[in-house]
Amino acid sequence: MKLAIFGTGIVGQTFAEALAKKGHTVVIGTRDPAVSKTRADKPFYGEPFSVWYAQHRDIAVATYAEAAAQSEIIFNCTNGAGSLPALEAVGAEALGNKLLIDVTNPLDFSKGMPPSLFVSNTDSLAEQIQRAYPKLRVVKTLNTMNCGLMVNPRSLKDGNHTAFVSGNDAAAKAQVKGYLTEWFGWKGEQVIDLGDITTARGTEQLLPIWLRLFGALNTGNFNFAIVK
Ligand SMILES: NC(=O)c1ccc[n+]([C@@H]2O[C@H](COP(=O)([O-])OP(=O)(O)OC[C@H]3O[C@@H](n4cnc5c(N)ncnc54)[C@H](OP(=O)(O)O)[C@@H]3O)[C@@H](O)[C@H]2O)c1
Repeated sequence: MKLAIFGTGIVGQTFAEALAKKGHTVVIGTRDPAVSKTRADKPFYGEPFSVWYAQHRDIAVATYAEAAAQSEIIFNCTNGAGSLPALEAVGAEALGNKLLIDVTNPLDFSKGMPPSLFVSNTDSLAEQIQRAYPKLRVVKTLNTMNCGLMVNPRSLKDGNHTAFVSGNDAAAKAQVKGYLTEWFGWKGEQVIDLGDITTARGTEQLLPIWLRLFGALNTGNFNFAIVK
């Protein structure tokens, strides 16, 4: 399939590599491809994009608008605050009714670590995106774990951990559940459909506890597991 990955950070890099290895045509979307390809500053997590790109020359890098135009599905892996600006750079008409798989979190680092959420309780970033682009089929998923686990859930010894999906379009959610299984190895019973896009408030608000667990466990290699 033709897939756009919005985001040059570790999450975008992880999805781009995993999906290209599966044989998909992947294009990474960014604000300025020339700037991104030469970016040498080390991010908080992962490699500078220039280092990663030197090892992945087969993966195209384009503007957000060009990447969207070439693709059926968009993975939104931008910084939370950059999500709406990235989509604005594409525009409502070009976005149309594409499927947007949204793995972002609305983290606000302005007051230091750990970050807080810039939207919460009565709203969520996923809803802001859906409201701004009513035709876009937004499915929020995988934002409650680190990106290594998103694309390789079986790497955890206890395989019964959980992914969530939220979205207004039942068919889009079923499509995404299928991709989670087919592309990344999630088992159907590991994926809980929480309901409409407002349920993303719940998963985005898991981030404050995820961040404390990260501190307490001294690793990001863990996940939530729901038991009844
Ligand atoms: N790290 C994880 O394992 C993990 C787990 C769960 C969820 N998440 C979420 O995944 C997302 C990506 O995280 P990350 O660490 O890979 O990257 P990040 O540093 O949060 O975001 C980098 C991307 O955001 C884009 N961006 C920033 N400001 C922008 C703006 N104003 N307009 C347009 N684009 C903008 C950057 O564009 P340029 O390429 O142009 O610089 C870059 O592509 C975040 O929302 C994060 O909360 C991360």
